[in-house]
Amino acid sequence: MNRTTNKLNLNNIPLLVENLSSKPLDERIRRLPKVIIIGVKKCGTRALFECLKLHPLIKAPGPEPHFFDRNYHRGLYWYRSMMPATKEHEITMDKTPRYFVSPDVPARTYNMSPNTKLVIVVRDPVIRALSDFTQAVSKHEVESNMTFRRRVLRRDGDTNIHSSIVQTGIYVRYVTNWLKYFGSSNIHIVSGEEIVTNPLAVLGTVQDFIGVEREIDGNLIYFNKTRGFPCIRILKLKSTTKCFGETKGRNHVQTDSTTLKRLNDFYRPFNQYSICLN
Ligand code: A3P
Repeated sequence: MNRTTNKLNLNNIPLLVENLSSKPLDERIRRLPKVIIIGVKKCGTRALFECLKLHPLIKAPGPEPHFFDRNYHRGLYWYRSMMPATKEHEITMDKTPRYFVSPDVPARTYNMSPNTKLVIVVRDPVIRALSDFTQAVSKHEVESNMTFRRRVLRRDGDTNIHSSIVQTGIYVRYVTNWLKYFGSSNIHIVSGEEIVTNPLAVLGTVQDFIGVEREIDGNLIYFNKTRGFPCIRILKLKSTTKCFGETKGRNHVQTDSTTLKRLNDFYRPFNQYSICLN
């Protein structure tokens, strides 16, 4: 099959899926996601995703499918096969933070459905960069002598705009790319800081955006003082709780104040612009 034929097939698939959804309402079938948490990496996407899954109508796959960035060649049937089986009135949700920064993904997502609802979590980009670098160090993805300063600043002390860790925090650049395809009513931006300090308020607005009743409440989410983060109560299993893994809420690598100031100054104009988008 050549590339052109493959593209045509991909575009036809949403129609086929709609035909499938004319089956009886209580029948469970796999459906393409209506809601996607598209990013941003290290801003609290996992916490938001896990909390939203507590809603009785929101269903999601386990691993990140990475369909639009890494597996697009497999086609929408493959993507759908990764999703859990749901009833007509239930909402399928995906989370793949890499979508946010991948240039081709907005158009591809739009081609699947222009009505897709997109959730973006943002966080202070300097802290996000520290978190991202800390993760890269722990996964041995950076050379052992690499420091945060050397990763984000050039030798002359200016910000290294070629570093992906720096680029990811220029949120407005990527949001603009998504806005070329989706209206602002399809995009909901969430504060990663607020997911920690006021999770129920954040979850309330996200449930409104998705269009489901607010059902995630203080019985399901509580603040775990030991972890320093909100955690989940699993009501079905009495007194069982679930916090997010060791890889969340790590101590960040240390760096010097000049580096932090340089990065803060770099992001300031971009941050002000992205606030206008909200
Ligand atoms: P740190 O590890 O830098 O603290 P993501 O899931 O997008 O990779 O984001 C990871 C970040 O989610 C963590 O960054 C942490 O601060 C944040 N977070 C938000 N709510 C959390 C929660 N309830 N439990 C753990 N981490 C949470």
